[in-house]
Parts: sequence; C-alpha cells; structure tokens
Amino acid sequence: MSVFPPDFLWGAATAAYQVEGAHDADGKGLSNWDVYSHLPGTTYQGTNGDVAADHYHRFKEDVALMAELGLKSYRFSVSWPRLFPNGRGEVNEAGVKFYSDLIDELLKYGIEPMLTLYHWDLPQALQDAFGGWESREIVDAFDAYARLCYERYGDRVKLWATFNETICFIGLGYLTGMHPPGVKDPRRALQACHHVFLAHATAVRSFRKSGIQGQIGFVNVMQPNDPITDSPDDVAACAWAEGGFTHWLFDPVLKGCYPPELLAAAQQGLGVPVFAPGDEALLRDNICDFIGLNYYKREMVAANNDVDGFAMNTSGQKGAGGGMGFKGLFKFVRNPKGVYTDWDWEIYPQGLTDAIMRINTRYGRVPIYITENGLGAKDPIVDGKILDQPRIDYLRDHIAAIGEAIKLGADVRGYYPWSFIDILSWLNGYQKQYGFVYVDRDNGLARKKKLSFDWYRSVIDTNGERL
Ligand code: BG6
Repeated sequence: MSVFPPDFLWGAATAAYQVEGAHDADGKGLSNWDVYSHLPGTTYQGTNGDVAADHYHRFKEDVALMAELGLKSYRFSVSWPRLFPNGRGEVNEAGVKFYSDLIDELLKYGIEPMLTLYHWDLPQALQDAFGGWESREIVDAFDAYARLCYERYGDRVKLWATFNETICFIGLGYLTGMHPPGVKDPRRALQACHHVFLAHATAVRSFRKSGIQGQIGFVNVMQPNDPITDSPDDVAACAWAEGGFTHWLFDPVLKGCYPPELLAAAQQGLGVPVFAPGDEALLRDNICDFIGLNYYKREMVAANNDVDGFAMNTSGQKGAGGGMGFKGLFKFVRNPKGVYTDWDWEIYPQGLTDAIMRINTRYGRVPIYITENGLGAKDPIVDGKILDQPRIDYLRDHIAAIGEAIKLGADVRGYYPWSFIDILSWLNGYQKQYGFVYVDRDNGLARKKKLSFDWYRSVIDTNGERL
C-alpha cells in the first residue's frame, strides 16, 4: 500500500522567466530581469531569459509531454508584465490569453494547474515609477494584478500561490545585491520584505472575496539549519539563522505576525520594518490555506566572527563558492561528512522530512505542497541519450523522505519536482539543468526525454510505490 494518499498531486514546476522566452512578444512589458540580465556581469556568462525554452510558443508541445509523463498537476507562474506591460493600468489581452490557453490545454489532459502570481519578474515600469517593493504603492498594484488573474482564471484554477521565495528576491535583491535591483542594505531589505507580506495578505483577502472555490498559499524555501557542533555559540548562531531565514518568512503568512523577539530586535537595531495603522490586522486576518515548501538542501551553521557576505557558487565548479554569513550572527559551513553537488549544495534527503516536521511542530498540521525539489547538474549525454541517473537517485530519496513525513502525521498533498523542463537558472545559466525534459540548445530547442522522464512516469503510475 502506498503511503501517499490516492489523490496525491504528482506534479512538476517551472517559472515564467525561466521557461517562456518571448520577452517582448505580443505587447509584453519588460520585467526587472529582462533589464538586469542584460547588464554586464550580472549573470553566468551573460545568459538571459529572452528565449529561454521558448515555452511561450511551444506550450502545446510541452503540455503534451506533461500528459505523457502522467502529471496530475503543473505549477507555473504568470509574468506580471505580460498582463500589465506598465505594471498597472492597461491590460495586455494577448498576455491574458496566453495563460488562459495554457490552462485550457492543461485541463484538456486532466492536469490541475497550480498558479504562482509572482516568481520574481517585476514589471520594470514599477521599479522605475516608485522603486518596486520599497514602496507601499506596490501593494495596490499587486492586488489589482492578482484580481485580474482571479477574474480571468479563477473559474478553472483552484490552487493559487501569491509569492515564490521571498528570501531570494528580497534577500538577494536587497541584502547581497545579486538579484535586481542590486541593493545591499538590510534596512531597505526588511522594509521591502514587509511590503511583500502586505501585498500577500491583501491578495489573500481579495481571493476570499472573489468566491473562487480553491485554496491560496505562499511558497517559501526552507533550508533546515543544524548547528555544526553542540557548543553554545554554534547553537545560538543556528537559532539566529533559523529565525532570520525561516521564522521571519513563514510566521507572517502562517501565524499572521512576525516572531516577536526578532521583530523587536530589528525595530530597535535597524528601525524597520515600519508599520502603518492596519498592517497588523491585515496580516493577522489573512493567513494562508496552505504552505508551498521548496527544499533543495540544508545548511549547517556555526558562530561567525569573520565572514560577511554571501559568495555563492554560480559556476558549477565544486568549491567555487566562498564564505556565507552575517558577521557576529552566524555563517553557513560545510558538513565534513556531507555529499555535495557541483554547486556545493548538500544532498540531504532527511532534511526534507525535517523541514516538513518543523513546519508541523511550529504551525500545526497545515496542508503542505512540496512546490520545488530537485538536482541541478550538468547531465551526461551518451550516444544522444540524457542519462541523468544522479537526478533519479536524488528524487527517489527525497520522495521517500516525504513518505516518512506522511507516516509521522504530516498533511503533504503534492510534490512538484523542479523542474518539468530544463530552465534558465537565474545566476547559473543554462548549464545547471533540473528538468525531466532536455532542451537541445544546439538544435532549435528540440525537446528530448531524459532517463528520469520514464522513471518519474512509473513513480506516478504506482502512486509512489515503485521508486
Ligand atoms: C528556487 C527558485 O530558488 O530554486 C527557482 O524558486 C530556482 O526559480 C531554483 O531555479 C533552483 O535554484 P538555482 O539557483 O539552482 O536555479
């Protein structure tokens, strides 16, 4: 008997900027990534999403492959500037139609859409007009965008997520300066992050008013933290890491408030986030129906008196990354016994069980969808076949880890490996592959099924019994 419920959603995921291409087609406005990725030195070898996998023009072929794979659900994101070229105001009907057609195509094959409203591609017009996430004006603009999506797609889409991974677009955008708008300022980061939570809560409120018979959630990545030793300093550092990287981001959407001790520390130390009247009630009254959990790796933590900054490995040369941490608080350190990918991410399936159970312990038995999980690798091609056995091994062990969490009592309802098809990895180019489907960039973007494709089809066929 399978440990997975009979209606478990075996899925796969992508995001608009990473697959669609067609960055200026049919009236689409520019996103912050369309602009940023063209600035010298911002991405791996200057790669950008102008063409990506050209999913915009090939979505029917791609959905047919999803059906062949046996997907029960597909997680994708909508590009805000495709719908509102200026971020607000005039609607681009051609953009609206693209997602409407995509949704119809999915439903034709019985594939349930899961729609993410924001996977990092902000209309550049809003960045230019008022500084994007740094202004409260973004809340109304986001709500209007969300309401358009509810109105046009709500008759067919039942599973909605507002945001994908605030830690990345705010953390990398405003703390480390590696994503647009390339700012390095903790005060600005925390205030921008607050506006994301307000936009989320406002869009949840509108969702509930819309009468859509569905659920709305928030997608966060979790890197469960464990101290590298049991020394009090490492344990205390780990608590800081977990507070900042997990509780700060999960509490406002699942409890409706920030962790009080961290909020007090931030407001006393940095003077942010600044609340306006009504903010507290808005967060409190509009918590999520479910949490989307992205999991790739854990991070082991140590006390930190030296490292200040986050030198990520973006080349795929093992060991190319540098120190990562906030001086005086914590740093991430390598697990001497750990197994690592070429991008120095620890492969640790137990961490997925831990992440799910930590959510259960802190927030109760909230419904969970694993909205991303996967192995980024340079896949070997032998005699024209893409032999991604390491991906199969990775996914197998992580699916088993979800099974363990279900046995322990967690309410996990779906699994969306990252990614359905090879995507553009934001800072790592096209060489960091995640898909079940290979995109032959030397051969007109032809699609080819990888070894993992047939393997995952059999997992789905047997509801996770045959791993
Ligand atoms: C998540 C994002 O952070 O991780 C995806 O939601 C991203 O968009 C994925 O592609 C893997 O990260 P990376 O940096 O390897 O592409």
